[in-house]
Amino acid sequence: MNFDEVIDRRHTNCMKWDSMQQFYGVSPDTGLAMWVADMDFRPPPAVTAALQAEIEHGVHGYFGDESAYKTALCHWMQHRHQWAVDPEWIKTVHGLVAGTALCIQAFTQVKDGVILFTPVYHAFARTIKANQREVIESPLQIDASGLYRMDLAALEQQLQGHERMVILCSPHNPGGRVWSMQELQELADFCLKHDLLLVSDEIHHDLVFQGYKHSPMSLATPQIRERLIMLTATTKTFNIAGGLTGNAIIENPELRSQFSQAMLAAGSSPNRFGVLMSTAAYAQGEEWLESLLEYLDNNRRLFDAGIQQIKSLRSMHLEATYLAWVNFAETGLSPQQVIDKVQKEAGIATSHGASFGSGGETYLRFNLAMPRSRIEQALERLTAVFN
Ligand SMILES: Cc1ncc(COP(=O)(O)O)c(C=O)c1O
Repeated sequence: MNFDEVIDRRHTNCMKWDSMQQFYGVSPDTGLAMWVADMDFRPPPAVTAALQAEIEHGVHGYFGDESAYKTALCHWMQHRHQWAVDPEWIKTVHGLVAGTALCIQAFTQVKDGVILFTPVYHAFARTIKANQREVIESPLQIDASGLYRMDLAALEQQLQGHERMVILCSPHNPGGRVWSMQELQELADFCLKHDLLLVSDEIHHDLVFQGYKHSPMSLATPQIRERLIMLTATTKTFNIAGGLTGNAIIENPELRSQFSQAMLAAGSSPNRFGVLMSTAAYAQGEEWLESLLEYLDNNRRLFDAGIQQIKSLRSMHLEATYLAWVNFAETGLSPQQVIDKVQKEAGIATSHGASFGSGGETYLRFNLAMPRSRIEQALERLTAVFN
């Protein structure tokens, strides 16, 4: 695997590079795309081979028989996450934003409260609001070691009675926290105590760095499984987000049936290309993933070290994900001034912290899943602008 290869993604209908001029005013010819969460790498060779076989056959009709996909998925969960999944529990959805929307539609009513630990992946709040439910923000605290912690005691004080669901991001995006089993158990107990459903978006669960271990929420307590919807996917792990395929894994048959009803109402059925790519990735992508994790780990170390050398910039220590979370608060500049400097002077497109909800305002999120030479360029530019 040569992750150092610079692959030109311009003019390929690629959101990250081809839309950055429009969204950020940063030229794809001279700028660096460090925003949307996909990687500038090719997927595992088995994924490309699966697509090639499909092209060679040449007929691309409706997809049927998900058994090979589900078998590969169950094996992956057992092998990588020590989580025994029954194929019956799996519902294949069009990506996890769609999966989240279906959860909101299936299990909550208009005006119900949905709790988020902010700052968090921006599509959660967008989807909750678009479905006319209320976003309840529970601000994450930063502990002495500079990492995010949930504050369930404060959340308990905040509850008003109309809250129906919690959406957890595990590992957390942004900030890259890998929640400990104890933290997951405390959240599970909280949901049981307050009769809340729990949606656990674990899309980043395979992108965990050495020394850390992701725990699936379903293993936190047996009781939580009755009120839990697990969301997982191959798309971040193997860089096949364009395949828009993910899983809602629901053990409780009643919840599963409600979810199926919501899928029916939305007219949802599997995407052929996404399922073919995902099956190949689960079955044959592990070695590639190990190399990727090593590469990303080195990118993370390089970027962190570079950021700490720049006056007033601080990056959160990533335990997982390739999404660096950099705080510009100590620069004394306003968020807009920071954005202007990074976009106009450094020519870097990042995800703006405010879009992740309360607590994100002074941050920018930098996607590090790119060849190392580009990380070096980004550091040079940031150093020139901020030092
Ligand atoms: C936590 C989280 N969930 C979901 C998604 C996107 O999911 P999908 O592309 O499957 O809709 C992302 C993408 O960055 C994410 O970070």
